[in-house]
Amino acid sequence: MYEGLPVSAEIAASSVELPLFDVIADGLTGRGFVVLPLALPPALSEALLLRVTSLGDEAFRRAGVGRERDFQLNRFVRSDEIRWLGSADPAEAQYLAWMEQLRQAINRRLFMGLFDYEAHFARYLPGAFYKKHIDAFKGRSNRVLSTVFYLNGGWQEADGGQLLIYGDDDSVVSKVTPLMGTLVVFLSDSVPHEVLAAQRTRYSIAGWFRVNGSINAQIDPPR
Ligand code: OGA
Ligand code: MN
Repeated sequence: MYEGLPVSAEIAASSVELPLFDVIADGLTGRGFVVLPLALPPALSEALLLRVTSLGDEAFRRAGVGRERDFQLNRFVRSDEIRWLGSADPAEAQYLAWMEQLRQAINRRLFMGLFDYEAHFARYLPGAFYKKHIDAFKGRSNRVLSTVFYLNGGWQEADGGQLLIYGDDDSVVSKVTPLMGTLVVFLSDSVPHEVLAAQRTRYSIAGWFRVNGSINAQIDPPR
């Protein structure tokens, strides 16, 4: 099914009922976020890195803040560039398939009613950052669960680009190195976070599980 990827990297639905999903569910219930090193099959991480690094500059566009009429480019808030994932590329398709397994596993465990998932590659060129924010405002978005997956080999402290996760009292509760294979999952409406300026090119995949906020059969809101 996923041509060009090693068989070991294939995601068979039956093999993905991982203890990992229990760890994620428990982490979300307990602290609202969870950080998992080496979450996905290494061959899949490598294929995703190959994919994102093979994309030319024209494949990316500057990331904005907000959606549709609220959409604005704001270099003071964020300066990364993005490209949405689709099912045409085998590595991207496999990533989305893994997230579909996670979606079902979370729904079974936490009854969150996760309905679909959208994700984009993000490229932070040297100097790029994303200031402290939350991904969804309570009651105003159907994004409920965020994922960030990192694709950077040999990332050092001095390379910057760490993900800071804030607690209720504005203190930093976790500082995540954006190292190849690390997955972060957190509640979209209650976990403030920030990306420190990267000192070298930094790749991640940010994604969101959404609940169905549709009216009259229209999936709402679009990206
Ligand atoms: C985002 C985001 C974090 C990261 O895209 O909303 O917070 O570490 N990304 O890339
Ligand atoms: Mn975010």
